Amino acid sequence: MMAEEIQVFGASPVYRRTVDELNRQVFRPMMMTRFLIRAVPALYQSLAFLLLILALAAVYLSGARAIAELGAVVLILVRSLAFGQQIQHSLRRLDELMPFMNRLRKALDHYAAHPRQDGNAPLPRIERLGMQDAHYAYVPGEDVLHGISFEARGGEAIGIVGPSGAGKSSLVQILLRLRQPTSGALEVNGADAQGFRREDWQRRVSYVPQSPQLIYGTVADNIRFYRPEIDDEQVERAARLAHVHDEIMSWSEGYRTVIGQRVSAISGGQRQRLCLARALAGAPDVLILDEPTSALDVRSELAVQESLEQIKQDVLLILVAHRLSTLSICDRVMVIVDGRLQAMDEPAALLASNDFYRDVTEITQRQGMTQDPTHQASR
Ligand SMILES: Nc1ncnc2c1ncn2[C@@H]1O[C@H](COP(=O)(O)OP(=O)(O)OP(=O)(O)O)[C@@H](O)[C@H]1O
Ligand SMILES: [Mg+2]
Repeated sequence: MMAEEIQVFGASPVYRRTVDELNRQVFRPMMMTRFLIRAVPALYQSLAFLLLILALAAVYLSGARAIAELGAVVLILVRSLAFGQQIQHSLRRLDELMPFMNRLRKALDHYAAHPRQDGNAPLPRIERLGMQDAHYAYVPGEDVLHGISFEARGGEAIGIVGPSGAGKSSLVQILLRLRQPTSGALEVNGADAQGFRREDWQRRVSYVPQSPQLIYGTVADNIRFYRPEIDDEQVERAARLAHVHDEIMSWSEGYRTVIGQRVSAISGGQRQRLCLARALAGAPDVLILDEPTSALDVRSELAVQESLEQIKQDVLLILVAHRLSTLSICDRVMVIVDGRLQAMDEPAALLASNDFYRDVTEITQRQGMTQDPTHQASR
């Protein structure tokens, strides 16, 4: 999940440097440990023998009255033997982690050696975004998206609904260019998206995942998210836009509050709004939000909704919606069933024409919007 966000935000180069540095920091002590594991038993044994010889010499020099002292020395030796074994045991456990460290290093090397092939054209402002007969298959021959075609325009809010497993997240991943259609195309301003630079895409298309992850660092670090070009002013503007600024100011050190230490004190709703701020900090043209299936606190839901209403004028909003309140701000809604775009229309029109949409809205209304309607309807 974190990997997804790191890709989407184009944070990879900075993040990779951070991980590399951590990896190096951990790797050196690991190598040291491996050396010690081999060296320590030998050293320890030699030391034990040396002590034994010294003790025997002492006994020899001082005669029989030292028998009691010999007992004490032997006792100390036995005790420290157990202690030595404990140390060895801990070291061995560290050694067991080595394969994982090696695997991580190998993976990093592998990715560095296989860069993706992308177009080189600079991406202008995204006015229109859509798909042209896009198919997608995780396993060759087994399409999970079947010929999806649509076009959305800047300033629109588009909802996506559909039963669990229908293909909503797969569609979102194509929009984010995390996946590429197996046939057909993702189109931007009428042209194939693949021809445009990926860095530009990451800057212009932003994302709030279903279960957003915070990183260890300050509130500002979390919003900036490995994009050093975003300054403090932009961080604060994004936080205000995501309706989380006031809460941040109520924390002991404001934007400098370290999240790692108080991550459990941050509610699901605050987490979502911090990650919304993260997504808005880069002033994107397109914002894609995958709504959590379970309800957040009412205050947060309202705050996010107000925020989305406000953002809507300037960006193309794409919302995987699980809540009626979210659907109500959508200009048009896509209904995805079994990997097919069954309908795409205004909410009022869908209410009259689409069975799935009608079921979803009725169930949500009956349950007072506390439950995830799409999952209910799919049962
Ligand atoms: N990484 C994957 N590898 C193989 N198949 C996958 C993978 N991810 C999803 N699928 C399959 O693709 C289909 C569409 O899944 P997707 O996650 O896009 O559905 P969804 O509409 O987002 O569902 P939900 O509402 O539960 O999030 C499902 O049949 C799913 O099992
Ligand atoms: Mg999904």
